[in-house]
Amino acid sequence: MIQLKSMNEIEKMREAGQLLARCHQEIEKLIKPGVTTAEIDQFVEDFLASHGAVPEQKGYHGYPYATCASINDEICHGFPRKTPLKDGDIVTIDMVVNLNGWLADSAWSYAVGEISETAQKLLDVTKTSLFLGIKEAVPGNRIGDIGHAIQTYAEGEGFSVVREFVGHGIGQSMHEEPQIPHYGLKGKGLRLKEGMVITIEPMLNVGDWRSKVDANGWTARTVDGSLSAQYEHTIAITKDGPLILTTLE
Ligand code: MF3
Ligand code: CO
Repeated sequence: MIQLKSMNEIEKMREAGQLLARCHQEIEKLIKPGVTTAEIDQFVEDFLASHGAVPEQKGYHGYPYATCASINDEICHGFPRKTPLKDGDIVTIDMVVNLNGWLADSAWSYAVGEISETAQKLLDVTKTSLFLGIKEAVPGNRIGDIGHAIQTYAEGEGFSVVREFVGHGIGQSMHEEPQIPHYGLKGKGLRLKEGMVITIEPMLNVGDWRSKVDANGWTARTVDGSLSAQYEHTIAITKDGPLILTTLE
């Protein structure tokens, strides 16, 4: 069942989302060669605690950390670790903030020092693909319109779209219906309605779209070792169009 949200509930999710956006703003300043993703994870724990919020991912189906930190060929659900980031890496930091029982979910990929031209293009195209998907999140459109916009642009730029991980409804729990694939056919799928709150979170790979999961049971990485990036926002579908809840703009 899809749980539609009132404007009042959307406002509460926006508060969680704005705190999350501030957290990403701080992370952007911390990311540099030598810093560890374990330090970033600790920063997030402290930042959220000092603002009366809870990192929803920690303990979710046994996930052990506040954030996911996915480096280079890791697609998602990377474990924060004590190995320092190095010049040329890309890293995706993903988290879900719970503020007063309402959730927001956002991931951002960051460049560590100087990165290759290919890595920079991957970041740029992945971020643009997110915003092309968001544009389609209007009442009356269908779920396939979102995936279609993302996939045609991403593949046109020479990258592939991860299939195994999708966006989702979100509210008082992290994963609600419906699922939002980042690939698909225009005009197909469920119709989007005012009051739906969803994540759009395209993961793009330089090479093959397929993934494999590490022995830790969580971390997904590209089968061919190619780079992967991800940008994610939480979006409310309103009569005035898509409202991005995880931004300060
Ligand atoms: N934030 C992720 C998402 O976009 C969920 C991470 S799974 C977790 O759906 F268990 F690690 F939290
Ligand atoms: Co997320």
